[in-house]
Amino acid sequence: MNCPTSPTPQRTTTATGAPVRAEGRDKVTGAARYAAEYAPDARLYACPVPAAIARGKIVAIDCGRALAEPGALAVLTHENAPRLGETGDRTLAVLQSPWIAHRGQYVALAVAESLEAARAAATAVRVEYAPEHHQVLPGPDHPDSSVLEEADDDAPEGWQRGDVDRAHAAAEVRVDAVYRIPALHNHPMEPHAATALWTDGGRLVVHDSSQGAGWVRQTLSELFEMDRDRITVVSEHVGGGFGSKGTTRPHAVLAAMAARHVGRPVTLALPRNQMAAVVGYRAATEQHVRIGATADGRISALAHEVVSYHSTIGDFVEQAAKPARSMYASPHSRTSHRVGPLDVPPPSWMRAPGECSGMFALESAMDELAVACGLDPVELRIRNEPDRDPASGLPYSSRHLVECLREGARRFGWTAGPRRPGTRTEGRLLIGTGVAASTYPADVEPSEAEAHADASGNVRILLNATDIGTGARTVLAQIAADVLDVPLDRVRIEIGSSDLPYAPIAGGSTGTASWGWAVHKAAVALAAQLADHQGRFLAGGLRVSVNTEDDVAARSAQYARRSFGAQFAEVQVDRDTGETRLRRLLGVFAAGRILNARTARSQFIGGMTMGASMALLEHSTMDPAFGDHAERDLASYHVAVAADVPDIQAYWIEEEDPHLNPLGVKGIGEIGIVGTAAAVANAVYDATGVRVRTLPIRVESLL
Ligand code: MOS
Repeated sequence: MNCPTSPTPQRTTTATGAPVRAEGRDKVTGAARYAAEYAPDARLYACPVPAAIARGKIVAIDCGRALAEPGALAVLTHENAPRLGETGDRTLAVLQSPWIAHRGQYVALAVAESLEAARAAATAVRVEYAPEHHQVLPGPDHPDSSVLEEADDDAPEGWQRGDVDRAHAAAEVRVDAVYRIPALHNHPMEPHAATALWTDGGRLVVHDSSQGAGWVRQTLSELFEMDRDRITVVSEHVGGGFGSKGTTRPHAVLAAMAARHVGRPVTLALPRNQMAAVVGYRAATEQHVRIGATADGRISALAHEVVSYHSTIGDFVEQAAKPARSMYASPHSRTSHRVGPLDVPPPSWMRAPGECSGMFALESAMDELAVACGLDPVELRIRNEPDRDPASGLPYSSRHLVECLREGARRFGWTAGPRRPGTRTEGRLLIGTGVAASTYPADVEPSEAEAHADASGNVRILLNATDIGTGARTVLAQIAADVLDVPLDRVRIEIGSSDLPYAPIAGGSTGTASWGWAVHKAAVALAAQLADHQGRFLAGGLRVSVNTEDDVAARSAQYARRSFGAQFAEVQVDRDTGETRLRRLLGVFAAGRILNARTARSQFIGGMTMGASMALLEHSTMDPAFGDHAERDLASYHVAVAADVPDIQAYWIEEEDPHLNPLGVKGIGEIGIVGTAAAVANAVYDATGVRVRTLPIRVESLL
């Protein structure tokens, strides 16, 4: 297998594979515009007022002082805000009732001539509450485990095969451990923001920082009870999302409400300290993993049981046990996700939801099994490689986990054999290495696209894809340039508006596979038209429009489709202070065809950095009295910076997968984070002999 870090030579003659980044210049020069940077004439600013209790009712709101602030124009509350229609997402019923479902939920919105005036007015709103007892932590008066409900999103009764309890009890070697991950928060560089305006003709136009303008348009059409065709949502450039911008968030609804109420354009840019409550986060999980195996490490029983929670106004549940169904062959297996409602801000998607949480537990448990069997952890995983997807029974479209493990071990300089914790030292530093596997679904969604060619040979590709910082325009241009055999600079990609042909959101690592398929199909159709005209562009140009709905449907359900990877970490732990520093992180991924070495590497190492951050730094603390997480900014919520990941390398297998889509593309947005935290924790075990099962790994975990 060949694992290039730069394009292979034979590909430099084509656009695909070239390490270019078309929109990079716009971003670094400030030419790229973000949602709060649209400044229509007479624009106003809005600032929300968060609820100061975690559960209860608003008794009275006094807006007098707020409206007396210089520049203040209006305060919206549940008493005067426009009535909204129904949508499936109850977090979007903003300012519709006096009831408070969580701390930080919006109770009012101040609108003013300047940002400063809006903030001053919001601060001056006086809200009187009738608080009720709130429950924000699973605890003494939380519903006990007998009343937790199963919440597997595709196996409502829970999922099982065989008799896992009996097989575990009978196994020669057993692992039985509980792993805990705290609540974790999304903190994209660009806080959520929207600029909304209503035209004289009654159209609603919203510039929103979202992962999918089409989703936002659909939600707004339901809430404002308008035909979708009368709404335009633009998400031209987006400064990161990680799931927190995947669904419509309250700020976009509030901006549209305020703009209608005052009859002028309104910008609402969330202060970072409000984000923790209103844009979703990863719920804390308690994960019980049991593995039974033969003395030589062949798994006979695998149970992964997750306890978590959801909010009273949201149904999202972290599906952490799901990857355990597909990772390793086991005749007896069970997964479950049991939850109860809490008065917490609604959890939601965050960076590989499900897989990221679950693979910390499973891959830590696999390391514990390797220790219990006296086996090399790489070898243990190879011994349990299934020949079909254990979850569905389907063949894999491609699965190269073993190749990733072997190639990673070679590149990393992995010392094979049983772990011998605490045996490698440098002065007072204990050195350790760890490995973990990664996986993420390789899903694809239907998409539309249009391709236009003008008389001078320029190509335009149009679809409502979203660039959330990944470089989506670049890879889509590369796909079209290759099919049409034109230079990259002849292809113009127009994305990021709901007025463009339909495309799914940038989420679930489906973007490039889904949009790219439609772009490929459109380019092929355009090339055929050009061929009909002997390659001459006609005076009026050519135009084709495609939809991949039937193509996607025809390929689903025949194969199990996932990406895989192997992550290797080296840490040093100071034996006196307990401080852990990451020395090296190396990942090898099998994620289909890689279209652009530069943007792909950026996705992989970005994910791996987030995984390292989860292992060592990130932590949200629920304050039971206050009723929300205590960390409100990047000074208290620690994310990894460059100095925390001094040496980080990503490689990939040249994986040919003919069963996915014409491009052979799997998504790569999320697999980089999956398993990373386990690789780090396993390395800490190797360094110290201490098995840390609760993240993040802190000084006090080791002393
Ligand atoms: Mo990603 S958490 O699917 O936006």
